[in-house]
Amino acid sequence: MEPVTFVLFGATGDLAKRKIYPALFNLFIDKKLPPSFSVIGLGRRELSDETFQANVAQSLTQFSRRQADEAAKQEFISAFGYNILNIDRKDDYLKLLDRIEQREKDQLLPPNRMFYLSVGPEFFATIAANIEESGLGSAKGWKRLVIEKPFGHDLQSARDLNESLSQAFTEQEIFRIDHYLGKPMVQKLSVLRQNNPVLDALWTSRYISNVQITANETVGVEERAGYYDHVGAVRDMFQNHMLQLLMMLAIQLPKNSTPEGVREQKKRVVEALVPLKKQEVGLSVVRGQYTEGTIQGKPVVSYTSEPNIAPTSMNDTFIAAKLQLDAAFWREVPFYIRTGKRLKEKTTRIVVEFKEPLKQQPSAQDDLKQPNLLVFEISPNEGISLQLNTRDPQHKGELKPIQIDFHANSQEQPEAYENLIFDALQGDPTFFAHWDEVELSWQWVEPILQAFQENLLPLHHYPAGSYGPAESDELLASSGHHWWFDV
Ligand code: BG6
Repeated sequence: MEPVTFVLFGATGDLAKRKIYPALFNLFIDKKLPPSFSVIGLGRRELSDETFQANVAQSLTQFSRRQADEAAKQEFISAFGYNILNIDRKDDYLKLLDRIEQREKDQLLPPNRMFYLSVGPEFFATIAANIEESGLGSAKGWKRLVIEKPFGHDLQSARDLNESLSQAFTEQEIFRIDHYLGKPMVQKLSVLRQNNPVLDALWTSRYISNVQITANETVGVEERAGYYDHVGAVRDMFQNHMLQLLMMLAIQLPKNSTPEGVREQKKRVVEALVPLKKQEVGLSVVRGQYTEGTIQGKPVVSYTSEPNIAPTSMNDTFIAAKLQLDAAFWREVPFYIRTGKRLKEKTTRIVVEFKEPLKQQPSAQDDLKQPNLLVFEISPNEGISLQLNTRDPQHKGELKPIQIDFHANSQEQPEAYENLIFDALQGDPTFFAHWDEVELSWQWVEPILQAFQENLLPLHHYPAGSYGPAESDELLASSGHHWWFDV
């Protein structure tokens, strides 16, 4: 891996402390950082290098999944420096350029620069323009821009943002983080199919009945009312994380697994999504909002009683949808997607339900038979299970479903940010969202946004601690399906 200067905007923020520093540190422990490595943290506050380093050390103690001895920690921390930067002040960018060039000279670093924007999306365009204007981005080495969702608020604003960024960075230089793409099991979905013909052979509508993608959360709106009440579950989770999971599951394996090959196939999945008509959104989408209830034994208030949420808010804290793909392999296979806050348990999983075996003579045991289910547990636990039917020796040879289970050791799993930062440092864009995917996702979601905005479909309430509104069950029941594992 080539030596690099990692330039972090938002270095005193929460994401940096909780995720970015621990991720870099774990990569360092695994010797996955380049041999020469420099980090410049940027923030609005005046801080000395020493205080900044002490803050980074503190965040490692608090949030890193692994610790190391003091000498190793010191070696890691010594790569960190800090500059004050006001995002609008052009002079600050010039000072930053001086500092970076000086460090590159002192440490014999080539001028490769990775700009990581851990700041609100409203600052992306200004920062990118200033990087360009100040000359920070015009050194002889490579430059990369790492940003994190939200990429826009709707199709038009996403296009505007992309237009501004592309004045300063090419598509190949932009790494859009969707942290769900960094989750180890998500990264394994294609690997499992590629290397297990027994799975890939079944990856068609001939054998698959339906696919269920669930991302349930127990948390509520927390301290993010100002943000969340304007985005809702549809923008916060569905347009990005959930559609990315769909792409990763439904993708046709590319002939060569180059990043371009993978992204081209992902794009084909979103392109194949059957568009919804605004007036008919209510037929395949359920929107919900939590009311008061109990989560893991603790009473919690309704969404509209949360601090800083208007009592009349119609924001969606839950969305379930039935999607269809107009693609040969997936014809007539519904993809059910749901995500929401204040649900019974924290789980992200994908269930692939297989069709009934080719029917022979109806048998008395048909009722005992369960469909084959292939389950990918994504988080908080990582695992795979397969449900099969076998004979139950204790009940006169009746059929009995069994599960073949694999559970990964969660301590050994890298965090999503470790995987993603490592890939970005290497310049591998496979697990980053390409602009085409982002644009097509917004385009597909647009009628839902409009239908919500114009209240063309009801807002169903569900008690906190449940699996969402009953209408989400009905969405599947109308096709003879039900959500698995809601118990
Ligand atoms: C974020 C959303 O992108 O993902 C949050 O903004 C959500 O609202 C979070 O809680 C969920 O991530 P994870 O990794 O905990 O499933």
